[in-house]
Amino acid sequence: MKLLVCGGAGFIGSNFVRLRLLEHGNAVTVLDKLTYAGREENLEDVAGLPGFRFVRGGIEDADAVAEAIAGADAVVNFAAETHVDRSIAEPDAFIRTHAMGTFVLLEAARERGVRYVQVSTDEVYGSIDEGSFTESSRLAPSSPYSATKAGADLLVSSYHHTYGLEALICRGSNNYGPFQYPEKLIPLMVLNALHGDPLPVYGDGRQVRNWIYVEDFARGIGHVLEHGAPGEAYNVGGPDEAANIDVVRRIIELTGASPDLIEYVADRPGHDRRYSLGSEKARALGWAPRVRFDEGLERTVAWYRDNPAWWEPIRSGDYRAYYERQYGRALGGRLETPD
Ligand code: NAD
Ligand code: DAU
Repeated sequence: MKLLVCGGAGFIGSNFVRLRLLEHGNAVTVLDKLTYAGREENLEDVAGLPGFRFVRGGIEDADAVAEAIAGADAVVNFAAETHVDRSIAEPDAFIRTHAMGTFVLLEAARERGVRYVQVSTDEVYGSIDEGSFTESSRLAPSSPYSATKAGADLLVSSYHHTYGLEALICRGSNNYGPFQYPEKLIPLMVLNALHGDPLPVYGDGRQVRNWIYVEDFARGIGHVLEHGAPGEAYNVGGPDEAANIDVVRRIIELTGASPDLIEYVADRPGHDRRYSLGSEKARALGWAPRVRFDEGLERTVAWYRDNPAWWEPIRSGDYRAYYERQYGRALGGRLETPD
């Protein structure tokens, strides 16, 4: 199978590309705009493999899409702006990529009659106090990020309904693992803990997320691609839920940092309290998560500890300015526990 993977230089996309090249022998073309979150370094170890091709461009650019999709049997779309806090501060790029970009990709897939998988999120369902969302739960997104992701999902469904495109949607819960940009909770807390920087917990820290190890999500997307029914959406949720403050405490234990680093800061506007996905439909396709949160978090902390060459350029570049704007303080720089 020849795949076009859009957004394949990001966190989940790069893990998916690695899996498809190494475990499935697929040929893979990556189309990626290389925003702040997309890095060719994420694909360094597989870029030389036969069948790998990289095209730099936006999914909203029809010419770049035409070049990248040539010869593909299927499209998997990861390309997105993904950080909720950034969507609250500057929603423009979210609207452009999720609305216009998804439209351009769908048109290209329709023209060529290729299968299309949209990678989506549990956030399209909004927050749930008890129980878990199923695929037939109402879409009730809260932030510009999740609202534009929900809009993209609806557009994808319409292309199946109206044009008969073999389009599927795969909705994941909170991912964590290697190559995640350190604006998200787990890598941010791990790197701050390793450097002795404050650990900024929003609000009361009791918000709950449903954690999935990135390789489990990548495998779930592969199952949906290969075995899912066109027109259907599939939830792919992790095996464990945890409150943010408990995640931070566990990271403190794993890094040996001081609990005094915890700092409660202003809450995120419109903050969703709890996410939880029921994934029976994906499990019926033969998928199941393999990695429990305790084990996955240990592996993740070890990966960041062992790969300073990956995060050092990030922590010394534009990210510092982002961090200052977001948290109203400068990022420290002293590594507490060097190898
Ligand atoms: P990421 O921010 O790490 O990577 C996004 C990638 O998309 C980057 O490589 C970026 O350069 C690329 N990109 C952005 N805009 C683009 C455009 N217009 N054209 C081409 N490329 C573009 O994101 P991630 O965490 O890997 O998320 C990937 C997908 O999975 C997203 O669609 C996201 O909504 C979804 N998702 C993420 C999570 C999570 O916990 N991270 C959970 C469920 C679903
Ligand atoms: O649920 C899936 C979603 O998970 C994906 O669709 C998004 O792309 C991804 O970014 C993620 O969204 P969240 O908003 O849940 O992830 P984030 O890592 O930004 O935050 C996780 C929780 O931690 C959330 O309740 C906010 C809180 N938080 C986050 C940061 C960055 C803090 O308390 N402090 C922080 O500094």
